[in-house]
Amino acid sequence: LDGKVMVTGGAGYIGSHAVLALLDAGYEVVVIDNLVTGFDWAVDGRAAFVEMAVEDPRVADVLAEHNVRAIMHFAGSVVVPESVSDPLKYYRNNTAATRSLIESAVKAGVPHFIFSSTAATYGTPERVPVTETDPTVPINPYGMSKLMTEAMLRDVSAAHPMNYAALRYFNVAGADQQGRSGQSTVGATHLIKIAVEAATGKRAAVSVFGDDFDTRDGTGVRDYIHVSDLAEAHVAALAWLVEHPGESVTLNAGYGRGFSVLEVLDSVDRVTNMTIERKMEGRRAGDPAELISNNAAILATIDWTPKRADLDGVVRDALAWERKLGEMGR
Ligand code: UFG
Repeated sequence: LDGKVMVTGGAGYIGSHAVLALLDAGYEVVVIDNLVTGFDWAVDGRAAFVEMAVEDPRVADVLAEHNVRAIMHFAGSVVVPESVSDPLKYYRNNTAATRSLIESAVKAGVPHFIFSSTAATYGTPERVPVTETDPTVPINPYGMSKLMTEAMLRDVSAAHPMNYAALRYFNVAGADQQGRSGQSTVGATHLIKIAVEAATGKRAAVSVFGDDFDTRDGTGVRDYIHVSDLAEAHVAALAWLVEHPGESVTLNAGYGRGFSVLEVLDSVDRVTNMTIERKMEGRRAGDPAELISNNAAILATIDWTPKRADLDGVVRDALAWERKLGEMGR
């Protein structure tokens, strides 16, 4: 690439891993992040860092100054229940802010854009594994805020010389295996993060939200993907965009298999050699029973081979980072 990659949200969980994957692959990186949920210490020192919100019109200047040729856009709000109680926050931070960022990208003539979309765009899928061409009917504002962004990218890429990849993430977990980053989110709601917090004594028990779903053991089934595999998928998607000007893609980012909440907690027990206390509770609002990717398209399209699909490995890496956070006093 004849210039840098801008990573928005590069101080956050997935963004910081994308920064590592890009640097490890030899790309030059500039991070922008407003540090509302991210941490400046999470940004690898080899990347340039600008503290700025994506909707700031000065982003166009940063793009020009750093000769940015591709944007990976991770910045955004990600908590599904919060999107239900505060939808305007999601339409501002995800949809409207991204509109501004895309405008800056078009102004600066950035040719490639990679977008963090989500399996939440499908809502409750009619079938699992769910495929990219299946109906997108979000059941919460979070999913809708991301689906609206996909629509903007489709329209903008038709009107301007910019192609894009929208990656629809399934459940992201785990941490960098060299211990350089991990999920540091304060007040996280994600199952594996919560479970390793329990394993390190940061919480007493793990709630199981619903055991009466139509699944093999009654608890929710998800397609957990290791954050470093996901980060590498972004690097591979970038290479694909460079090789396919004028073409864009929307791809599921998952492994094509699912684990139930109880299976995840069994894995945590195995990995920690502990018995984490489980508290059976009612269903959480807006949770589908089962969300599993059909990942045939991503495997066939970009040059990406997932390497970290083993659930115990995902949990082990998440746990190692959680312990490191503890040593850091966080
Ligand atoms: N769960 C529990 N107890 C907890 C937390 C979660 O039982 O303490 C259950 C949930 O009910 C669900 C599963 O564990 O069945 C996974 O829940 P998460 O909160 O970890 O993740 P979600 O599936 O709700 O959502 C995540 C991301 C979304 C993304 C979605 C796509 O937060 O941004 O995955 O699959 F859209």
